[in-house]
Amino acid sequence: MLASLQSAAVVGVDALPVIVEVDVSYGLPIFTMVGLPDTSIRESRDRVRTAIRNSGFQFPAHRVTVNLAPADVRKAGASYDLPIALGILAATGVISGRDIRDIVLLGELSLDGSIQPIRGVLPVAVAARRDGRSALLLPRANAPEACVVDGLRILPVDSLLEAVSALNQPIDRASVDLAAVRSTLMGAAPVPSNDPQPDFSDVAGQGLPKRALEIAAAGAHNVLLVGAPGGGKTMMARRLPGILPRLDFDEALECTSVHSVAGTLPAGTALMTERPFRAPHHTISEPAMIGSGASPRPGEISLAHNGVLFLDELAEFPRGVLEALRQPLEEGRVTVARAARSAAFPARFMLIAAMNPCPCGFRGDGRRLCRCSDPQIQRYVGKISGPLLDRIDLVVEVPATGTCIVATAHEESSGEIRERVIAARARQHSRVAGLLNSRLTGSTLRDQCVLDGQSVKLMEAAIGKFCLSARGTDRLLRVARTIADLGASRNIRREHVAEAIQYRWMFA
Ligand SMILES: Nc1ncnc2c1ncn2[C@@H]1O[C@H](COP(=O)(O)OP(=O)(O)OP(=O)(O)O)[C@@H](O)[C@H]1O
Ligand SMILES: [Mg+2]
Ligand SMILES: [Zn+2]
Repeated sequence: MLASLQSAAVVGVDALPVIVEVDVSYGLPIFTMVGLPDTSIRESRDRVRTAIRNSGFQFPAHRVTVNLAPADVRKAGASYDLPIALGILAATGVISGRDIRDIVLLGELSLDGSIQPIRGVLPVAVAARRDGRSALLLPRANAPEACVVDGLRILPVDSLLEAVSALNQPIDRASVDLAAVRSTLMGAAPVPSNDPQPDFSDVAGQGLPKRALEIAAAGAHNVLLVGAPGGGKTMMARRLPGILPRLDFDEALECTSVHSVAGTLPAGTALMTERPFRAPHHTISEPAMIGSGASPRPGEISLAHNGVLFLDELAEFPRGVLEALRQPLEEGRVTVARAARSAAFPARFMLIAAMNPCPCGFRGDGRRLCRCSDPQIQRYVGKISGPLLDRIDLVVEVPATGTCIVATAHEESSGEIRERVIAARARQHSRVAGLLNSRLTGSTLRDQCVLDGQSVKLMEAAIGKFCLSARGTDRLLRVARTIADLGASRNIRREHVAEAIQYRWMFA
């Protein structure tokens, strides 16, 4: 008898349908699989056979042929174990009564017949819904992720035995209808933790860097913090997500898809509601940063999608890794290719980088002496190439003065700063929907950044003094536009341009 079941393959953050056909016919008892399966699928043959037996079913003593179609989709991982096992049981009549072709089946089988969680469930759920499938049968631990998608029945199961009984029942009795889950998810208060969220009120003084981070958050600009050790660069960078607006539903879905595919979604998380903050160590390899693998996996830049990528000690990163950031910084996505396959991942993140001004860290400190030679300094700063710097809108010095730390003045909380950021973003969206200032280019940039007579003069002076390129001028304009938005000003005025010019320290 022939059984045909639906499963899925994840390519990038998209899911493609995979059809699992199982034929059980009279003949010598051999078990073959076709459809270009890789080694892990060949191993799955043994798992399927053992799991069926250990669940108390009989493995057919006939000829079993499995075909995974389409043949040209690379199928890695163990996520076809469950559909194959269910296909065999359907072809031998153990599963009956109802058409299961409309249900997408996912899961990895253990030898004892239990079902293990898998990666990439959310993209499959989104695709299943788009293709008009009625239900999704999947490991129980993955159910919260899939419940995010409206209008799809979810059949969570823990074992092969449970899967068989779920498929032998009418669909609405077997499924959990978690329509309400989605709305409560977005409205849910963040899970309380013993580790309190870092807050800007902990940072004493440092008015200028704090202001720069507020501007960066408001316009989604990239920032570089430069300063002597102990000034609080790392401390402030870690507080950036706290002043960004919360994810909206679409952004949350995008982030969750990427983390679902990468397998970095914390257990039990249905939907990510906090913006990601990724801080890879400077020893990171290019594939880990950009994305890689035989079945492509997202890298740090995609895990930071819709959030913050923090590169601490920027000058210590391998040059190749930094160079590879240029294109995704521009396009907001990255294409990872390997052999004949390629996959695209979203990668729209805010870059925040921190570094010392020289190898010893004390150049320009005023209180401590810098011991570095000129060539040493040049080599250090030279690691950050011009084209990368060109994509950083704000460069700000973080002084390491001890005095501000004992100050008792009330410092603003992240919540207060975030209110202003949200208001400034609303102003940007009301001009060009969906486009923040840092993404304005060409004619849209000129249209949105109208300067008055005085600011034109100041701008011209800055272009002359700092020898600004056309790209540098655009950057200055974008930052001035964001400063004007924070000040609720329709036009860019002289003081906005003047402030923007301040954030060109050192590398101007
Ligand atoms: N402005 C500040 N207010 C309160 N505490 C501060 C401030 N600056 C620094 N600190 C304290 O000093 C510690 C070290 O700061 P941090 O690690 O952020 O410095 P850094 O600038 O990143 O130094 P490095 O260049 O060595 O990486 C912080 O964990 C914090 O306890
Ligand atoms: Mg640091
Ligand atoms: Zn030095």
